[in-house]
Amino acid sequence: MPASHSNPPLRHFLQFKDFSPEVIAHLFERSRVIKDRFKRFERYMPLQDRTLVMIFEKQSTRTRLSFEAGMHQLGGAAIYLNTRDTQLGRGEPVEDAAQIISRMCDCVMIRTFEQTIIDRFAEYSRVPVINGLTNEYHPCQILADIFTFIEHRGDIRGKTVAWIGDSNNVCNTWLQAAELLDFQVRVSTPPGYEVEPERAGLHSSSHFQAFADPMEAAKGADLVTTDVWTSMGFESENEARRRDFADWCVDAEMMGQAKPNALFMHCLPAHRGEEVSGEVIDGPQSVVWDEAENRLHAQKALLEYLLLGLVKD
Ligand code: CP
Ligand code: NVA
Repeated sequence: MPASHSNPPLRHFLQFKDFSPEVIAHLFERSRVIKDRFKRFERYMPLQDRTLVMIFEKQSTRTRLSFEAGMHQLGGAAIYLNTRDTQLGRGEPVEDAAQIISRMCDCVMIRTFEQTIIDRFAEYSRVPVINGLTNEYHPCQILADIFTFIEHRGDIRGKTVAWIGDSNNVCNTWLQAAELLDFQVRVSTPPGYEVEPERAGLHSSSHFQAFADPMEAAKGADLVTTDVWTSMGFESENEARRRDFADWCVDAEMMGQAKPNALFMHCLPAHRGEEVSGEVIDGPQSVVWDEAENRLHAQKALLEYLLLGLVKD
């Protein structure tokens, strides 16, 4: 029987809400097991002879490295494609590329611009497609971030996250996760940069509150998090954004509004002195390095799930 006959049904991870709370809980548990084995230098290579193709239309350090190293550690291989060097960069239709690429590999990760690009790719793909960041969402980041929260503070259900700054791809994904896993997100953006619930893919406003004042948003939070003022693809707005976001810097005073044991997270790369002060990101409440490392472990759990299903060992 061809190996593909025993594969789990085709699933994609294009947005956080593509998975049920049960599957997300499974991924957190598997991230823990896989991380633990890795730390003990135990080999775990269930993806031998499997290939991940990674398509990047934007720059990356963490996403590329964590997927490439993760696939290698699981016994498989990863191939890096930059759209500029492929026929996609010369206008080959996404639908055609999806059919061809997915006949030659077992999984595809894409970092691109509009979500519709990855949606179209997935529709024509024979293998699982993972969103490695789009303008709208960054689901792998939030898998790693919530796993990091759990490691430090336990279950996130019922907790409060304060998002300070741009209502971007990372913010939208926090909001989807809050609906799915039942925690609250308090968002403060400058005027004109507010959350667009439809673009964020929200069902309701039950897990989300907007605040004009970032100090208010930070009040009583278990976790304070932020991201760059200007995301990739929006560089032409850089100057205006620097002006508009000047009061949305997470500094020690803002952290002081949160619970005394609140954590600070940032998906990185960060700009010290813009969205976060050096004192906060390099301070005792910051868990940004764990967060970055956990991209590796969480994505290995994700690859295992997409290629092998609900592994229990
Ligand atoms: N946080 C994140 O996705 O980082 P990279 O852009 O370096 O991949
Ligand atoms: N919001 C940022 C995240 C980078 C990892 C961006 O899209 O550029």
